[in-house]
Amino acid sequence: MISCILKTQSKILYTFLLALVVSFGAFAQEASEQAEIAQKGVTPGATEGAEVSTGDPAVISAGEALFKNNCAVCHSAGGDVIVGPGLQGVTDKRSESWLISWIKNSQALIQSGDADAVAVYNEYNKQAMPSFAFSDDEVKSILAYIESGQGVVSAPSEGVPGATAGENVGTDAIGAVGGYLDIVLVVLIIVLIVLVVTLLLIASLMKNYLNQNRKLNEYDAEIVNQRFDFSKIYKSKAVRTLVVLIFVVVLLDLTIDKVMGVGIQQGYAPKQPIAFSHKLHAGEHQINCNYCHTTVYESKSASIPSANICMNCHSQIKTESAEIQKIYRAIERNEPIQWVRIHNLPDLAYFNHSQHTQVGGVECQTCHGPIEEMDVVYQYSPLTMGWCIDCHRETPLNTEGNGYYDNLVELHEASSKGAFTVSSNGGTECSKCHY
Ligand code: HEC
Ligand code: HEC
Ligand code: HEC
Ligand code: HEC
Ligand code: HEC
Ligand code: HEC
Repeated sequence: MISCILKTQSKILYTFLLALVVSFGAFAQEASEQAEIAQKGVTPGATEGAEVSTGDPAVISAGEALFKNNCAVCHSAGGDVIVGPGLQGVTDKRSESWLISWIKNSQALIQSGDADAVAVYNEYNKQAMPSFAFSDDEVKSILAYIESGQGVVSAPSEGVPGATAGENVGTDAIGAVGGYLDIVLVVLIIVLIVLVVTLLLIASLMKNYLNQNRKLNEYDAEIVNQRFDFSKIYKSKAVRTLVVLIFVVVLLDLTIDKVMGVGIQQGYAPKQPIAFSHKLHAGEHQINCNYCHTTVYESKSASIPSANICMNCHSQIKTESAEIQKIYRAIERNEPIQWVRIHNLPDLAYFNHSQHTQVGGVECQTCHGPIEEMDVVYQYSPLTMGWCIDCHRETPLNTEGNGYYDNLVELHEASSKGAFTVSSNGGTECSKCHY
């Protein structure tokens, strides 16, 4: 009977172990699903699209481009007030001719004494909206876009779909897996400790009970009172499996941490002095990158905005927020905000933004990743020499309509079959990137 109890005891042990392995499997599965989501940058349920439009799609998309480049800084196409009012429904509220005169020159309309114009001007603290030299058709296309409802921001969804993550963006996913492995590890250890303590408790209770209340024959007494035998534990299959399992998990965890470190500063995402979010500003409110990074199309450096640029909007918006108060304090003290620099090439390398953004037409996202989805900016690309050179070898140069290149392209075509890339033009010569 006693040996039967002991057998049940070891059965319990095996059941526990089985449960442990199964739950570990489930954890790993969840972790890999998370990783996949992070990699694709897609959250389930983030697919709610815009309303179906009634107007001509070509006109609407032309209007969308004009709106984003000229108006989105101050207006949303939905109901939110940014600097000016949200423009959803404005086409029902005002006549087309009124809107055309307003957008072309709001000050003229106000001065003419138009009641609506004066009222809205006063309502928004007499901030002058700039004039726009648009044709009537251009204004109409903007109005068609507003009317279509396509610019209405639906409930903020995680991970704006659209920007496809490149091969380099693994850091998020790896981070997620690393985090899960840590949790799995801790859970494993806790379960193990609980298991051991419970079993020891049961064993000692049973031993006491049997010794006190039963007359034991010699054989049973030997089993009950046997000394703790470490060699048995060592030989136990269950314990060995468990040890191997824990070893594998620890090893995996360490390797992943190492792999993350390989990309030098890749994935670097320091905490900033103000909780500024690109997802909110560049994503939801669609403020153009060069509204803040003012020199990115004209000079070597992209520039980080001064507090004055923030004040264009935050003299009015969220003035009571603790984060915004930090901007006011910086201005009062006449000190710049101490943003922590993320991207930083060594001094020996020369990189020029305008060369890439303006001349080369390379999108910010190609090098910086989906910034408009980041609450906290992280370094997306490795920024190594190999990374620069790979792109120069693969990217065809836009030589169309540029007389300067005609002879060079001809020469290139005579000697090689490949496309005329940045490197064909000398983009892999040491002196181009090194002083
Ligand atoms: C620099 C900020 C700014 C920009 C850029 C801007 N607006 Fe405005 N807009 C305002 C402000 C502020 C008001 C409120 C009236 C006022 O104070 O002049 C306004 C009012 C309006 C109104 C009147 C709304 C109503 O309820 O009657 C319309 C329509 C409008 N803007 C359209 C546009 C369009 C279209 C563009 C882009 C071509 C644009 N705005 C660009 C700041 C701006
Ligand atoms: C409203 C202003 C604003 C807009 C719009 C904006 N940024 Fe920024 N950006 C900042 C500020 C402030 C920082 C410094 C704080 C930080 O890193 O979050 C910054 C930092 C960055 C950095 C990291 C700089 C470093 O230290 O290495 C990159 C890259 C960047 N922005 C790219 C973009 C891109 C691409 C867009 C457009 C999709 C954009 N930004 C739009 C204000 C802005
Ligand atoms: C073109 C307008 C505009 C500019 C320029 C701008 N912001 Fe904003 N900012 C907004 C809007 C709109 C919101 C969202 C307000 C809301 O949620 O109601 C916002 C929100 C914020 C918030 C969140 C506040 C909170 O407590 O919810 C912070 C922090 C912030 N901005 C910082 C900055 C900083 C720093 C700069 C300058 C680098 C800047 N903003 C420039 C329009 C702007
Ligand atoms: C071809 C790749 C590439 C493209 C395209 C690119 N950047 Fe950069 N960006 C870099 C590199 C490399 C650095 C680091 C420069 C350094 O340390 O000197 C950087 C740095 C920055 C910084 C930090 C400040 C600075 O100037 O060093 C900001 C802000 C920034 N980029 C914004 C942008 C914006 C906005 C765009 C799009 C309009 C853009 N970048 C397009 C590669 C790129
Ligand atoms: C995503 C692709 C891409 C990456 C990454 C990239 N470049 Fe470029 N680069 C270009 C293109 C495209 C041009 C050609 C622009 C033009 O002249 O039309 C260019 C041109 C240049 C030039 C001028 C070459 C010449 O012949 O005059 C220099 C210098 C340069 N890049 C440096 C760098 C450095 C340094 C890095 C890495 C920190 C880098 N680039 C990363 C695409 C890239
Ligand atoms: C397209 C731009 C580009 C070209 C062309 C280029 N380099 Fe570099 N190089 C870089 C960048 C960016 C770095 C810094 C990145 C890093 O530290 O990994 C760098 C770093 C280096 C370093 C320092 C490595 C270290 O570990 O600090 C040396 C040495 C070097 N390059 C030599 C050369 C030589 C020699 C050539 C010509 C055969 C060349 N480079 C061509 C962009 C370039």
